[in-house]
Amino acid sequence: MELISLNLEHTYKFADSQDCDQVLQIANEKNLLLEQKTGPGREFLGWLNLPSQTPKQLLNEIKQTVEKLRENSDYLIVIGIGGSYLGAKATISALSQFFGKSNIIFAGFNLSEKYLYELTQFLNDKDFSICVISKSGKTLEPAVSFRVLRELAYKKYGNKTKERIIVITNPHGGDLLNLAKHNGYKIFSIPDDVGGRYSVLTPVGLVPIAYAGFDIEQLIDGARVMEIHSSSANKGNMPELYATARNVLYSKGFNIEILTTYSPELAYVQRWWQQLFGESEGKDNKGIFPAIATFTTDLHSLGQYIQQGPRNMFETVIFNHEKPDLIQIKQEPVDYDELNFLTGKTIQEINENAFLGTVQAHVDGGVPNIIINLPKINEFTLGQLFYFFERSCAISGYILGVNPFDQPGVEAYKCNMFRLLGKKS
Ligand code: PA5
Repeated sequence: MELISLNLEHTYKFADSQDCDQVLQIANEKNLLLEQKTGPGREFLGWLNLPSQTPKQLLNEIKQTVEKLRENSDYLIVIGIGGSYLGAKATISALSQFFGKSNIIFAGFNLSEKYLYELTQFLNDKDFSICVISKSGKTLEPAVSFRVLRELAYKKYGNKTKERIIVITNPHGGDLLNLAKHNGYKIFSIPDDVGGRYSVLTPVGLVPIAYAGFDIEQLIDGARVMEIHSSSANKGNMPELYATARNVLYSKGFNIEILTTYSPELAYVQRWWQQLFGESEGKDNKGIFPAIATFTTDLHSLGQYIQQGPRNMFETVIFNHEKPDLIQIKQEPVDYDELNFLTGKTIQEINENAFLGTVQAHVDGGVPNIIINLPKINEFTLGQLFYFFERSCAISGYILGVNPFDQPGVEAYKCNMFRLLGKKS
């Protein structure tokens, strides 16, 4: 079985072992609190057992629905923002070919007029379907994009449009649900007890991922392996250890965490992680700032700062150990570019040495490193990774003393924006 793993060898040298043992004990108690569903935000713990409780029937319904859409569409336009798009975007980007043609286009995650206009122009002569995702059903960015793209769809497909629209929202109410019911669109529900940023394993993530042609069963299976591993009965499991390391470092003044990877296809996994930890922990004037960097690219931009700037940051490094064995450096008769010392090495081997060398340099420079090893990037390992981060984040938020399942601060900009736009409350 391809399992992800955690290496804390370059973390604990920055903290004394008594502290770590104490915080690990607390992490285990917080993990138990999650299982008992008695902590803050207990009404949002549906994600905790999603992997073991997702019915096969739901997965089959999703697969049949997207199969039908694929028959008459070149593209699925996935409309959503925050937790309503990042999980799908992360998975699809991680698994797609860099230069392949994607059949998924994301929209509704910004208010760029240029983006939306160009999208409508692009779609004019293409066949498309729409999957609009909003748990509350009233978020402005996706709602605006949906209105514009819906108009285009009705212009093209008339009263057959409803066969091309899927709505994913809460099952109880809101503008989007009303609109969907009124027009007879296909509806998938987001469970009440699963918040946006913990929703990748619900239809929110699964519908777009299945449409893109990836294996949603493997994704759930991977998450289930991590769910079982994460039980509080298994004290010292990976999420407890990661939550412990983060909080021990935070208490020592390391208040910035940079999630780094050496795999550019994981860029949106990093963004998904950033939202998960940022919205879950940054409150009550507390929280580690979640930053991201892609190496080796950003070693040529942020590397200097990380190596020698203020000593208040640590890195969590995701490294993919898969050996694709696709490109080997060849010997040249005259060594003009002085690269013959690399003869016979693959690009992955060079990348791996960059990783090892960077960890050593940053740790020597006073930056603790937490390492997450991926045996390869596929649905099964991504499922493990998503669940690992979700569980770690919940435990970590509880250790920090915040409710990791709300986001009251997000409302402030919305109130101002709606007031400025003249919305009547
Ligand atoms: O994690 C969250 O709850 C948020 O990031 C939401 O996902 C985001 O604000 C979008 O909300 P909604 O799905 O209600 O449109």
